[in-house]
Amino acid sequence: MKGIILAGGTATRLFPLTATTSKQLLPVYDRQMIFYPLNTLIKAGVKEILVIVAPEHSGQFLNLLGSIFKNHGISLFFEVQKLPRGLADAFIMGENFIDQDSIAMILGDNIFEDDLSEAIKNFKSGGQVFAKKVTDPERFGVVKFDENEKAIEVVEKPKDFVSDWALTGLYCYDNRVVEIAKNLIPSDRGEIEVTDINKKYLEMGELTVKKIEGEWMDAGTFDSLLEAGNIVKEKGIYKKFDPLIDKAISEFNEELKNIAKKRLL
Ligand code: DAU
Repeated sequence: MKGIILAGGTATRLFPLTATTSKQLLPVYDRQMIFYPLNTLIKAGVKEILVIVAPEHSGQFLNLLGSIFKNHGISLFFEVQKLPRGLADAFIMGENFIDQDSIAMILGDNIFEDDLSEAIKNFKSGGQVFAKKVTDPERFGVVKFDENEKAIEVVEKPKDFVSDWALTGLYCYDNRVVEIAKNLIPSDRGEIEVTDINKKYLEMGELTVKKIEGEWMDAGTFDSLLEAGNIVKEKGIYKKFDPLIDKAISEFNEELKNIAKKRLL
């Protein structure tokens, strides 16, 4: 299983914060937001990860992540997405990277409290997505279940109530996802939608939906960004990172301190 982190987009809702950096590099308590999706993948044993970034701030991603895992057995690759064509573009951009493997794609602004490692590790084929009950389903893709808890419908940002189970920004697919993504038609908002990929796997009878219990945060607005930082601190989520990530960050910090000292001499 390989991983993709989709960390592009323009994040206009977070202007002016995102005039100078990318949303996924903004702080969530004691570290940049992107370490949370990195943690979800690394904890699950994913060792090759493609990070898709927007052109404006691509150098900042390299400064932070370019060498940080080089002694820890994790290989990061980068691609620049020139225009935000939609979430499903991750699988088209990632075609050569994915090659013959399965893929776990996570949005760069999604933070999960639950450890989803087992579900990611045990993924075999088809599509696997994760749902969380919310009070504002119109903001998300949603999934409707029948009385036997079987997923029967997925809808992107429903105007009328369909279900209050939101589909979170973590998606596991087998290799067929690349061809499915290539054949998508852009939606009314002009994007190729990951929800249409889920519809396809649902039609094929191969979509598994796992419900999650813990906190799930999509830090795309001022309020949700602030709330994410508070929840991460209050619930101690920042203490539950894979030790590899904590080690890599502390080595990086040491290196920065040494450089700063040299500059002062
Ligand atoms: O957070 C979960 C939701 O994410 C799902 O419930 C929805 O089904 C899914 O469509 C998506 O909805 P959003 O409206 O939140 O997607 P947004 O356009 O905000 O993009 C999510 C992240 O992906 C964001 O951090 C920017 C990045 N992105 C987005 C697009 C469209 C890219 O890197 N490239 C893109 O082309």
